[in-house]
Amino acid sequence: MSGITGEAHAVTVAAEAIRSRLGGRTPTVAVVLGSGLGFLADTLGDAVRIRYADIPGFPVPSVVGHAGELVCGTLEGKTVLAQSGRFHAYEGHEAAVTARAVRAFAELGVGTLLLTNAAGGIRRTFRPGTLMLISDHVNLTGRNPLTGHVLPGETRFPDMSDPYDRHLRALAHEVARQRGVHLEEGVYVGLLGPTYETPAEIRMLDRMGGDAVGMSTVLEVIAARARGMRCLGISTITIFASGLSAQTLDHSAVMDVANRVKDGLGSLVSGIVGALD
Ligand code: HPA
Repeated sequence: MSGITGEAHAVTVAAEAIRSRLGGRTPTVAVVLGSGLGFLADTLGDAVRIRYADIPGFPVPSVVGHAGELVCGTLEGKTVLAQSGRFHAYEGHEAAVTARAVRAFAELGVGTLLLTNAAGGIRRTFRPGTLMLISDHVNLTGRNPLTGHVLPGETRFPDMSDPYDRHLRALAHEVARQRGVHLEEGVYVGLLGPTYETPAEIRMLDRMGGDAVGMSTVLEVIAARARGMRCLGISTITIFASGLSAQTLDHSAVMDVANRVKDGLGSLVSGIVGALD
């Protein structure tokens, strides 16, 4: 079997394994949970949990703060699939593996993808705890999950002119206003990692138009757009990016702030899911 036939097969096998455990639930929305944001999965009603160990082709996550399970349940009347634990290229995964879950969600009929992540703030006014709606991204990972043969249902050169759906973004701002959650908006730069950036790299990303930086999301959104899913992304700014404060960067600080924004982010996500058509 060639590599890419292998990937199409891997996606289908994973999707079937997930479907067989959903007990007839048909999720229409998937939420990808970033570092320390797994609590959102616990807010789903009538939930079924599927461990990655039970899904062929889903690696078990190696990062603290990423659980390694899918949780399917109801939120604001919608059937939602929450991905607690994502696959990062810095763990050594191929780009196609980082996007495998998203492609499987598309095969299950999920049409809307909500992605959350923890990010470093580049824009000077973004203090730790800021929530930033992703308006657009710059993929500087050096990877792309669509290289190689074109998978069934995808096209060779997908359009990326509206990666984060403009209607969903307007909806997110409206929900934030109604719920009194402060929501900024900006450009997310996705890097490979796993090192945090140097101060010189952050100055470069700032001049390029980046507002926040992280090590996820962009590859998943590329695959989701290739499958025609509508995407919405929310970054939790967990730390000032390198060189913008005297603090050194470490994962425990990222997790602490992710913990602090729980209420605002949880309220925003459930409000958005409830307002989806
Ligand atoms: N840089 C890259 N990734 C991150 C950061 C950061 O400052 N914070 C959380 N994820």
